Amino acid sequence: ITQKSENITRVSHDVTEEARAARNGHIGGVLWFTGLSGSGKSTLAVLVEKRLFQKGYQSYVLDGDNVRHGLNANLGFSPEDRAENIRRIGEVAGLFSRAGMVAITSFISPYRSDRDRARTAVGSNFHEIYIKADVAACEGRDPKGLYKKARSGEIAEFTGVSAPYEAPENPQLVVDTVSQDIETCVDQIVDYIEEHLSLS
Ligand code: PPS
Repeated sequence: ITQKSENITRVSHDVTEEARAARNGHIGGVLWFTGLSGSGKSTLAVLVEKRLFQKGYQSYVLDGDNVRHGLNANLGFSPEDRAENIRRIGEVAGLFSRAGMVAITSFISPYRSDRDRARTAVGSNFHEIYIKADVAACEGRDPKGLYKKARSGEIAEFTGVSAPYEAPENPQLVVDTVSQDIETCVDQIVDYIEEHLSLS
């Protein structure tokens, strides 16, 4: 993206990331969930956030409700708008991470190039987590009736039906929500976090 403003200087922080981590008992990071609509991203994100809270982690879910209704209210679902959606979320998640928190982002983020850009914005604390369920399974669940609408043409450019989903090639974690129950999926993600972000 082109930098439009001039005469901008970065502020350097006196509180280091190490100091924040030492106080929190864990480093900051971004758990970047990606997967189809209906794959279970939001359900798992909320359950993981709750479990982390109970364990004393500073964590927060970024998802459609607090982002597409606010910061990104001006964006739709064309490839360009999705790219801008993910770019902004990547930047915000990076801020959460540098503030020492564990940000859980729950967006379809269907394009590899957009996720790669988010990874670059966040840096080494970016963890790509593939919430895996195929179109048939998601369509079978269809919790919001969106696949039905997409098939009838009521929704255009619907991911998995009339718009692409590019599955991650080398995700840090694959969570299969078709073959495992929800609790097992939550355990799998929390175990991963404890292993990679906890200082104890
Ligand atoms: S993206 O692709 O990452 O920018 O999408 P995201 O911000 O995660 O928004 C996905 C949710 O928006 C609803 N919705 C659509 N999804 C996909 N394609 C189209 N055309 C579309 N229109 C609306 C849908 O409810 C998605 O929510 P989830 O929670 O994924 O089911």
